[in-house]
Amino acid sequence: MCGIIGFTGSSPAVPLLLDGLERLEYRGYDSAGVAVISAEKGLQIQKCKGRLSALRERLDSLPPLEGTTGMGHTRWATHGEPNDVNSHPHVSQNGQVAIVHNGIIENYAEIKEFLLHEGVRFRSDTDSEVVAQLLDYYFTAGSDPLDAVYRVLERLEGAYALGILCADQPDMLIAARKDAPLLLGYGQGENFIASDATAIIAHTRTVAYMEDGEVAVLTPDGIAVYDEYRRPVEKQRHTIDWDVSAAEKGGYAHFMFKEIMEQPDALRHTVSPRLRDGEVVFDELALTEEKLRSFQRIYIVACGSSYHVGMLGKYNLERFLRLPVEVCLASEFRYSGPLVDERSLVIVISQSGETLDSMAALREARSRGGYILAIVNVVGSSIARESDDVLYTWAGPEIAVATTKAYSTQLALLTMLGLWMGKALGRLDGAEYAAVTAELAALPGKLETVLSSAGAYQYLASLYFNRDCVFFIGRNLDYALGLEGSLKLKEISYIHSESYAAGELKHGTISLIEPGTLVVALATYGPLIDKAVSNIVEVKARGAEVVALTTESHRERMAELADHLLVIPDSHPALQPNLGVVPLQLFAYYIALQRGCDIDKPKNLAKSVTVE
Ligand code: F6R
Repeated sequence: MCGIIGFTGSSPAVPLLLDGLERLEYRGYDSAGVAVISAEKGLQIQKCKGRLSALRERLDSLPPLEGTTGMGHTRWATHGEPNDVNSHPHVSQNGQVAIVHNGIIENYAEIKEFLLHEGVRFRSDTDSEVVAQLLDYYFTAGSDPLDAVYRVLERLEGAYALGILCADQPDMLIAARKDAPLLLGYGQGENFIASDATAIIAHTRTVAYMEDGEVAVLTPDGIAVYDEYRRPVEKQRHTIDWDVSAAEKGGYAHFMFKEIMEQPDALRHTVSPRLRDGEVVFDELALTEEKLRSFQRIYIVACGSSYHVGMLGKYNLERFLRLPVEVCLASEFRYSGPLVDERSLVIVISQSGETLDSMAALREARSRGGYILAIVNVVGSSIARESDDVLYTWAGPEIAVATTKAYSTQLALLTMLGLWMGKALGRLDGAEYAAVTAELAALPGKLETVLSSAGAYQYLASLYFNRDCVFFIGRNLDYALGLEGSLKLKEISYIHSESYAAGELKHGTISLIEPGTLVVALATYGPLIDKAVSNIVEVKARGAEVVALTTESHRERMAELADHLLVIPDSHPALQPNLGVVPLQLFAYYIALQRGCDIDKPKNLAKSVTVE
């Protein structure tokens, strides 16, 4: 969580930092701050609780901060409540150093105790402040800036992306990284650090990703990078190939709505290059057929919506491959002593590629000999780089905290992976392979049809936006789809919602159904439509109001039962959830809109969860 941007060049730093923070605010938004430095004025800091707009207002009311080197931070609080003092940047007691930090310093209490004993006075309740104070301690003891940084890093346990300014070095910015994302941006007479490329893409497209243990020293003229033993490192530079407009709202009221509407194109990017003459082709995979044949079990490991993709993927993969697939929450997997070995394929799914629990699960699986294949959206992210193989979703930057287009593209890619593996292993029936690949090609067009009825979802939302509680029910693929529909609704509208396997209702949950309870019944999975009908009848008999999500071929039958219908085009069952998720996203979006919620930045959440 937390967003970092840093700059050193010849133009005023503050406007550039604020612009970058605007693009990083999705990473955390409970407070924000900037630090700039100039030879005349030294270190100057402004920071405050609240959204970036609060910081802007404060800066507008004060004499401008002067300097062409600086850094900014937008916070998602872990240690210490969101308030002005706990906001970043943090300045050391003697004013010699300022830092911004993303991550958690796990042994901060021990370092703090040591420094308190040395007479250091702390201002904040954060773990991060110890970094500033410890740096100052080593400066005072005579270390030069880089020496001091290495001495501090040696003592830190936990995760960090750090930006560091030293009061007597007005043209220098230092960065360090371990288990939290940070990239370097190379400009003309100016250089950058950032948590992700969206913050600096307006200024440079040339970036390098910092690795764990690396330290970078930036001046306007260049960037020197050192490894953990302080040996110089030649960084490989990458060119960002998407445009700045991809990370802007482009006339839409919210990023979430824009990203929902982008799904047909996002899917084209994901699918088209990998579907040639009716064949799924993965040029990018290193996985050999021999290795593929050795797998006895598949694990899918992820968090949140990416985990829901795994839940859907399990049904398709087991069907295509006749191999057992276990879907695990990354936060549980890492501590469960998983039975992963050399015969295990471990698929890690992550939009950001930086989710700490997924990263830790990956390392756990690797240490047990598993083969790691990542499905990731952010190119060059940590999970992508640490995996044996990576399939990029190529959905473009996803800014809204609630995922939509990343979910859809992950899902399509996982199905494609299943098709490819099933065919390579000779376990997938040729007719089914052909049917699913044909539907894959048709998917973006069918999604456009679903999106063209956005007005209908808005109307439905206007009927139900004031409910306190919503149930989602479904079976098989519809059950896994309901989990995502329920998460979308609750995370952005704050309505309590639950998703149940419809067959489980009578084992307890049905006692919660009362006259007027809203039940969203998912009935898109053809083979179990009769069962879905029975479950709708059961809840209707207890007075529930039912919104049914179904396909064209079941429209008439469902119209007799449900109070309202959401109808999507028919597809192959394996791909039906790719169409079914869109009405659920739009339903959640419009309900949140009616309730006046902050859709792109729901309370307490952040886009990239880099803490445990
Ligand atoms: C929900 C949502 C989250 C993420 C989860 C994993 O809308 O976006 O549940 O899916 O935090 O994030 P990634 O995919 O970046 O690992």
